[in-house]
Amino acid sequence: MRFIAPSLLSANFAHLADEIQLLNNSQADWIHLDIMDGQFVPNISFGLPIVKTVRKLTSKPLDVHLMIVHPENYIKAFAEAGADILTVHYEAVIHLHRTINQIKDEGLKAGVVLNPHTPISLLEDIIKELDLVLLMSVNPGFGGQKFIEQTYSKITKLRELALKNDHDLMIEVDGGVTLENAPKLFAAGADILVAGNTVFAADDPCRMIEKLKKGDLERG
Ligand code: DX5
Ligand code: ZN
Repeated sequence: MRFIAPSLLSANFAHLADEIQLLNNSQADWIHLDIMDGQFVPNISFGLPIVKTVRKLTSKPLDVHLMIVHPENYIKAFAEAGADILTVHYEAVIHLHRTINQIKDEGLKAGVVLNPHTPISLLEDIIKELDLVLLMSVNPGFGGQKFIEQTYSKITKLRELALKNDHDLMIEVDGGVTLENAPKLFAAGADILVAGNTVFAADDPCRMIEKLKKGDLERG
């Protein structure tokens, strides 16, 4: 699959309803929402009221990326706010197996996020429980950062691990996605690309989403 999940972090919050409307009329597959607590990451973004508001404005799946300490305490709240996909950081959770199953018990898709330094091999004994893995291709906390090239080999390793376990896994990549690297990321085995700055700083965000999706075909 080849999904694009625009990250709302780069949207214009003074015109949130317009930005969501724009995404509704685009080929965006999911809407990515970055929840930052100023503890797990050195930045604070937005929380439950924004998720609830966005839920009322779109029927697209809400992909909620929790960059918070103790995410296990907020699973029910984000499920009730309207999340469809909930991802928690490997680095933030002690009882990952339990947390993943709590997410699934709420009826949501469950995923683990790996920071750039966290090896794929740590997922060996949990991969079969996961609907998706989100690979950070920047250090989490801010939009508009430079893509880390190491991500390509992590995608390959992750796909190999999923195949070895005969497990149907979605691979998502987040951070520094551009028109230049999107085709290579899909070719390496990514299913979903998050894009913040590339989409919302574009003159025509709708067209940009389309191009990110089709890039490799156009380039041959
Ligand atoms: C970074 C966030 C990303 C961010 C991506 O911590 O997880 O989702 O919004 O933004 P870009 O695409 O601008 O790197
Ligand atoms: Zn994110």
